[in-house]
Amino acid sequence: MTARAQEPLVDIADLVIGYDTGTRQVRALDGASLQVFDDETLAIVGESGSGKTTLGMAAGRLLPPEAQLLGGRINVSGVDVTSADDAALRRLRHDRLGFVFQNPTAALDPTMRIGRQVALAMGGRPGPEAIAELLSRAELNEPQRIMRAFPHELSGGMAQRVVIAMAIARQPHLLIADEPTASLDASIREKVMATLGRLRAESGASLVILSHDLRLIARHADRVAVMYGGRIVELGPVVQVMQAPAHPYTNALLAAAAGNEAPGERLRPIPGTPPVLEARCEACAYAPRCALRQPRCEAERPEARRLAGREVVCHRAEAVIGAEQPTRQEAR
Ligand SMILES: Nc1ncnc2c1ncn2[C@@H]1O[C@H](COP(=O)(O)OP(=O)(O)OP(=O)(O)O)[C@@H](O)[C@H]1O
Ligand code: SF4
Ligand SMILES: [Mg+2]
Repeated sequence: MTARAQEPLVDIADLVIGYDTGTRQVRALDGASLQVFDDETLAIVGESGSGKTTLGMAAGRLLPPEAQLLGGRINVSGVDVTSADDAALRRLRHDRLGFVFQNPTAALDPTMRIGRQVALAMGGRPGPEAIAELLSRAELNEPQRIMRAFPHELSGGMAQRVVIAMAIARQPHLLIADEPTASLDASIREKVMATLGRLRAESGASLVILSHDLRLIARHADRVAVMYGGRIVELGPVVQVMQAPAHPYTNALLAAAAGNEAPGERLRPIPGTPPVLEARCEACAYAPRCALRQPRCEAERPEARRLAGREVVCHRAEAVIGAEQPTRQEAR
C-alpha cells in the first residue's frame, strides 16, 4: 500500500474470499489490499483467524475448493491470478513462487530420500554436487548425509532448512512463508529466520512472512502489515509501526507480545475474541474490543488512509498515534 515509483511484484486489491462450510459462508477476507515490492521482506501479523493464510495462499491460487473468490483482484509478477488459465498458473507457481509452511515434515514426502526430493524441486537432472551445494546454502552441514536421509531422520530445524532449500531451488521472485518457525524450538527459530532472510537478500527475491509473532518478525522484516477481520488495518515500515502504532489493534498486539511486559508482570492476551464474519463488515470490525471506540466506529466502515508514513484503517488513528505506546488500558 506504500506509494512507490516501481511496479509492485504483488498487487492485491479489495480481495474478498469466503469459505463455504455447508451451513454458512465464512468471510475470511473482507476487502484486503496489499502490495509487495521487489527485494523486500514484508510480514503479515494478526491473531489466529485474521486471514493471513487465506491471503498468502490466494497469491498462488492455492486455496481449497470450498474457498470462493467474491471480489477483488490479485496480480503477481504480471499474472492476473484470478483469471489465469491452468498452464499460466502452473508456470507462475513453478517458476516464480516458493512456499514454506509451518510444518516441514508434512511438506516432505516421508517415503523419499531428501536428495531425490530436492532434485525434483530443482527440476532437470541436477548432479549430487549441485544438490549438496543448495543444501549448504540453507546452512545444512554434512549435506551428503542429509541427501541420503529420510525426513523422519531429521530434526524439525533441519527439515525446515531442507524445505527452504527446495523453496528457493528455482530462484523464485516471491517466497511466502506461513509461520515458518512456529513448529520449531524457540532456540532455533531466530537462526532459521536469519537463514531465510539471508537467502532472500542474496537472491533479491521478496519474502512475505505470515506470523502471529510480532517480536520475531520485527527483527526480520522491512515492512509490517497488521491484519484484523480479513483486512490489512495498518501497514508501514516496521520501525515506524512498532514505535508509534496508529491502530489500536497494533497497540494491543504489541502489549500482548512477549518481551513487552514489566518485570514480574504476566503476559496479557488481547481481551475479547476476533470476529468471524459472514458478510461485509459495515462498521469497524475491531470496535467490540476497542477501548477508543466511538459511535462512528460502529456506524461507519473505516477506509484505508495515509498517516505518518503508513496506511491505517481507523477513524481515530490521529488520537492513537499521539498516545504513549503501548498502554495496558488500551489493550484491555
Ligand atoms: N477451509 C476452511 N473452511 C472454512 N473456514 C475456513 C477455512 N480455512 C479458513 N477458514 C476460516 O477463515 C478465517 C481466516 O482463516 P485463516 O486460516 O486465513 O487465518 P490465519 O490468520 O491464517 O489463522 P492462523 O493464525 O490460525 O493460521 C477463519 O475464520 C477461519 O476459521
Ligand atoms: S475505528 Fe474506532 S473502534 Fe475501530 S479501531 Fe479505530 S477507534 Fe477503535
Ligand atoms: Mg494461518
